[in-house]
This record gives sequence, structure tokens and C-alpha cells, in this order.
Amino acid sequence: MIVETERLQLREMSVHDLPALRAIMQDEETMVAYQGAFTDAMVVGWLDRMLARYRDEGIGLWAVLLRGTGQMIGQCGLTHQRILDEDVVEVGYLFNRSFWHHGYATEAAAACRDHGFDELGAERIHAQVRDTNIASMNVAIRLGMTVRGRFVKHYRGVDMPHLAFAVDRPAGTVPHDASRGSEVEAAGLRQRSCGGADLASGS
Ligand SMILES: CC(C)(COP(=O)(O)OP(=O)(O)OC[C@H]1O[C@@H](n2cnc3c(N)ncnc32)[C@H](O)[C@@H]1OP(=O)(O)O)[C@@H](O)C(=O)NCCC(=O)NCCS
Repeated sequence: MIVETERLQLREMSVHDLPALRAIMQDEETMVAYQGAFTDAMVVGWLDRMLARYRDEGIGLWAVLLRGTGQMIGQCGLTHQRILDEDVVEVGYLFNRSFWHHGYATEAAAACRDHGFDELGAERIHAQVRDTNIASMNVAIRLGMTVRGRFVKHYRGVDMPHLAFAVDRPAGTVPHDASRGSEVEAAGLRQRSCGGADLASGS
């Protein structure tokens, strides 16, 4: 497990998670901010990009499991992105609609935010949110984030205005292993890949 919380466990995804991924990404309502449900090929492509991120960068969106049952109820994690001409670490979150409104997204994302500060040595964690995505903005706000700027993403043939949210490392805190943290962050900066198709919350 990469991250654990009171109710959740986060681990890397694998091909065995494709049914759970399809349940999230082929649901029209869930994927409104992504301009609609993904085709099967798009879901497989998404998973392939996550597996490449794990391999090349050591981070990505992880499977969120319910403690106890082990059921995969969402994806949440950290990715390297380029936002407002800055290379940043972003927290992303997409949950199965059956598990919205339980606080799971905020619980998972807060643990990922802290993982970014403590284990990656990040000084700031971002979230990029389409300006129509109120539920996602609310998660960002619950994470202590504020709006740092606006930009437009071009995705699936559509211009999508976005807000750049971010939260800074709490004053006086340092990574768990300060020297290792800065090495990891430097490695991340070297390996960063920001695919043109990436959208909010870190594909
Ligand atoms: C964005 C998304 C993950 C937010 O999910 P969510 O369940 O609304 O978010 P949270 O985990 O913060 O849950 C908060 C809700 O749980 C409720 N809740 C219930 N039990 C709770 C508990 N024990 N602790 C905290 N909150 C609890 C809160 O009152 C709040 O209710 P509300 O939504 O009716 O106001 C979800 O809408 C989603 O997957 N959207 C599609 C994908 C997407 O757009 N991702 C973001 C791209 S930028």
C-alpha cells in the first residue's frame, strides 16, 4: 500500500482493475468534466499511461480501496503536470458515483497531499479543476487549497477554462527524510512528462 487512511487504502492499479476503472470512466455523469464517458480503448489507454507513470516517475493516480472489503471505489493520486508555466505536483481524484458524498475523495486526496509534502518533498500541491466542476472545487477547498490562477485546456476538441488551485507546505514542516525528499523531487523534475491529452486530475 502506498497510502492508508482510516477508511481507505491506496495502491498502484493493474489490468485486474479494468472492470472498476470502466465503472468509473464509462459513466456519463462521472465524466462530465472530461467531456463525456470514455470508450473502452480510452480506458485501456488511461491505464497504460498510469502504468508508465508508476514506472517512470514512481507516482500516478492510484486505486482507492475500501478497507475491509478491498473494493476499488475510485482513483486518487499524484502526477507531475505543467500548470501556468510551472512544473508542479498535482493531486487528482475520480470516484465511482455510487461512492460520492461519503467524504472518501477528500480523505484520499488529503492523504495524497500529505504524501506529496512528506515523501516527495513537494513545497506545494496543485489541483487543476474545470471551472464548471463544483464538486471537485469543493474537494480542493477542503484540502486547504486556494485559487492561484486561470487557464484554458484543449481536450477532446473543446476549450475548457480551468482554475489552478494549490496549497503550500505547512510552515515549519520538512519532508520525513529531508535529504531523500529533495532527491526524489529532483528526479521527478527530470522525468516529468506532461502529455498533451492530460486533463484535470492527472491523466
Ligand atoms: C470530485 C469528486 C471526487 C468529489 O466526490 P465527493 O464525494 O463529492 O467528495 P468528498 O469526498 O469531499 O465528499 C464530500 C461529501 O461527503 C459528505 N460526507 C458524508 N460522510 C462524510 C464523512 N464521514 N466525512 C466527510 N464527508 C462526509 C459531505 O457532507 C459532503 O457531502 P455533499 O457532497 O453532499 O456536500 C466526485 O464528484 C467525482 O468523482 N467526480 C467525477 C470525476 C471528477 O470530475 N474528478 C475531478 C476532476 S478535477
